[in-house]
Amino acid sequence: MQIFIDSANIEEIREAAALGVIAGVTTNPSLIAKEKRDYRETLGIISGMVDGPISAEVLSTDFKAMLDEAQSLQAIHPNINIKVPISAEGLRTITELARRGIKTNCTLVFSAGQALLAARAGATFVSPFVGRLDDISNDGLAVLNDIVTIYNNYAIDTQVISASIRHPMHVVESARIGADIATVPYKIIMQLIQHPLTERGIEKFLQDYQAAF
Ligand code: G3P
Repeated sequence: MQIFIDSANIEEIREAAALGVIAGVTTNPSLIAKEKRDYRETLGIISGMVDGPISAEVLSTDFKAMLDEAQSLQAIHPNINIKVPISAEGLRTITELARRGIKTNCTLVFSAGQALLAARAGATFVSPFVGRLDDISNDGLAVLNDIVTIYNNYAIDTQVISASIRHPMHVVESARIGADIATVPYKIIMQLIQHPLTERGIEKFLQDYQAAF
């Protein structure tokens, strides 16, 4: 499973990229808004920092406006793919963008049925929001598992991005289930590095060495 970073924060992305574990970036309008920087400028900087897929979301909700926005976002950098929320207009947009050879990430997906439609429309990526399902007492990982199973049943090419990750075990379970990618907030990438036995081990190695010499 590949790891993307779910962030629009330049510093976080720079630090995570330096670890050498990040294969792509996902953003959304809320993440961009938090940074209070120009949207296009931010996407341009991010594209220069990570050599992999960068998801940029459309703000419009109707077909024609989404297509125009998609063209304009894609013009920023060839690695940019267009995040389109699932809806009837969204599926039309994904279909047309696929026809034009523009990569898409179908977002705000909360059911296996939505994910099947996204794949059939030709989405490059699909983003089930695991954490937001858990937030309303649904089983986000069960939905992720259904999507991966269905895609495997029919050799569907659309890549599954486990999104709305809330804690390290969401990442581990997504990998166990067989998601292609997990998009992980910076804080959780750092939590994944840590283990109390690693910290204790480093301390003990140092103590033993210093005691002997
Ligand atoms: O980028 C999409 C998704 O990961 C959002 O996560 O934490 O706002 O539910 P969250």
